[in-house]
Amino acid sequence: MQIQILPSLLAADFGALRAEALRAENSGADLLHLDIMDAHFVPNLSMGPDVVKMCKQAISIPLSVHLMMTRPDQYFINFIEAGADTLQIHIEADCDVPKTLERIREHGAIPGITLNPETPAQMIWPVLGIVDEVLCMTVHPGYGGQSFMREVLPKIREIRDYANANGAEELGIMVDGGIDEATAVECAQAGANLFVAGTSLYRQPDMVPAIRRMRQMASEAFVS
Ligand code: DX5
Ligand code: ZN
Repeated sequence: MQIQILPSLLAADFGALRAEALRAENSGADLLHLDIMDAHFVPNLSMGPDVVKMCKQAISIPLSVHLMMTRPDQYFINFIEAGADTLQIHIEADCDVPKTLERIREHGAIPGITLNPETPAQMIWPVLGIVDEVLCMTVHPGYGGQSFMREVLPKIREIRDYANANGAEELGIMVDGGIDEATAVECAQAGANLFVAGTSLYRQPDMVPAIRRMRQMASEAFVS
C-alpha cells in the first residue's frame, strides 16, 4: 500500500502562502492538503478557490481539497476548475452525497468521503463503491493545532477490515487532525495510509527530514 504525506496549508504562514506551498513540494510532500471552511458546517472560514488556483500555478504535486461545507454540491465545480485533484466531501453534508461524489468524478477529480469523529463507520458503507478514499477526521473539523482523538482508531481499523472483506483492498484511508510521527504510527497500525499533517510539519524549520521520517515510520507500522 502506498503511504503518502500531505502537509496541510492551513498551518502555513498566510503572509507567504505561495512560498509555503512551494516549501511543501520541495520538501518531498506527496500532495498538498487545502482546508475549505464555510462558517456553517464548521464555525470558521478559511480559503476559497483562488487559493487553490494559486497553488495549482505554483506547484506540480496534486492538490487534496477538503470541503468542510454544508452544500459541497453547490461549490465543488469551482474547486475542480481551480485545480483540485482529489476532493473530500463530508457524509454529514446537507446534500445528495452519493450523487455529488459521482458528479465530482464525472468532472475529472477523485472523490473521497469524510467522516467526523462521532460518525459511525456504517454511515459510509453505501458510498464505498463510488469513492477512491475515505478521510477519517481525528479531530473535530474547523481548526488546526488540536489534539489527536485516539478514540477514532478502532473506526479506522473497522473501515480497513470492511474494505478488505468487500473487494476494496486499494481503498485509501486518510487521517486528518493532530497527526505527528507518533500518531501517524498509531493510525498506520489501524490501517491508514494517507497522512494529513498541518502543525507538526509546517512548524519545522526544515520539513524535509520530518516528511521523510513520517513516511518511513508509517510505512513500517502499516497493517493492511
Ligand atoms: C481541521 C483540518 C485539518 C487541519 C489539520 O479541520 O481539516 O486539515 O489543517 O491541522 P493539524 O495537523 O494542525 O491538526
Ligand atoms: Zn483537512
